[in-house]
Amino acid sequence: MTQHTGTALVTGASSGIGAAYADQLAARGHDLILVARDQARLRAAAERLGREAGVTVEVISADLTRPEDLASVRDRVATDATLRVLVNCAGLGPLGPALDSPVSLYDGLLDLNVRALQTLSLAAAKAFGERGAGTVVNISSAVAIIPERFNAPYAASKAFVLALTQGLGAELAGKGVRFQAVLPGVTRTNFFDRTGADIGQIPSEMIMEASDLVAAALAGLDAGETVTIPSLPDLGDWQALEGARFRLGPNLSRSMPASRYGLG
Ligand SMILES: NC(=O)c1ccc[n+]([C@@H]2O[C@H](COP(=O)([O-])OP(=O)(O)OC[C@H]3O[C@@H](n4cnc5c(N)ncnc54)[C@H](OP(=O)(O)O)[C@@H]3O)[C@@H](O)[C@H]2O)c1
Repeated sequence: MTQHTGTALVTGASSGIGAAYADQLAARGHDLILVARDQARLRAAAERLGREAGVTVEVISADLTRPEDLASVRDRVATDATLRVLVNCAGLGPLGPALDSPVSLYDGLLDLNVRALQTLSLAAAKAFGERGAGTVVNISSAVAIIPERFNAPYAASKAFVLALTQGLGAELAGKGVRFQAVLPGVTRTNFFDRTGADIGQIPSEMIMEASDLVAAALAGLDAGETVTIPSLPDLGDWQALEGARFRLGPNLSRSMPASRYGLG
């Protein structure tokens, strides 16, 4: 018999990584609220997961770049007392050099990857903090830490996701609320088709299946990771980077410019 473990709301649940989260959270016994624009795909997933996993699945058709749709999902996150998990997965990414795309494209990217994710993360942080329980999973990207290798505005939006998650995780520490940023590398989803790019041009040893990615991300969550890089073999490499970052701390804000600038 399925053990019910609270409700999980997943944005971007109609395909790719979000759909894999819906599958695997249902298998863990979570009732689900699935959010995306494609209502038909969401309904098909809801029907299948209800039948196969025995959980309750609700569908919310929402375009998270539209203020009224975002407000309605935000209100649900803020007021649904059964909610235990929020997965912010909806996102889009232009490929190629930043200047090859019209600047207007980046407004939509900011609305979805940044504004919507921040709005829902803050609503969950407040509600979960008051309740003393809850988990927020934010899908960032490996390019958050290597922006030189990808479309710059997209990489910057994912660096925002990483920083927001680390910052809120620190703010909510000790209040029973978990934050996790997941940094996928190339993952086989509709992400590339949507941009007109050909994932076939990418070496297959760099491409992870969405189901493997989500299984690793959930294992990282279970292990207590705040940041999960599913393909990274040695966690020590990430810990060394974080250690170096925190060692900068005492020198990041001082009364005088560093002597190496020779300003006297
Ligand atoms: N695939 C990769 O290589 C990769 C690598 C690193 C990070 N990521 C990140 O992983 C996340 C999921 O992407 P994916 O790879 O699974 O791609 P995907 O298959 O294209 O999924 C994107 C999801 O976002 C939803 N979405 C797009 N625009 C939306 C909007 N305006 N309002 C609401 N939902 C919207 C889509 O559903 P509808 O079209 O039905 O709305 C879909 O469910 C993204 O944040 C992406 O940046 C992907």
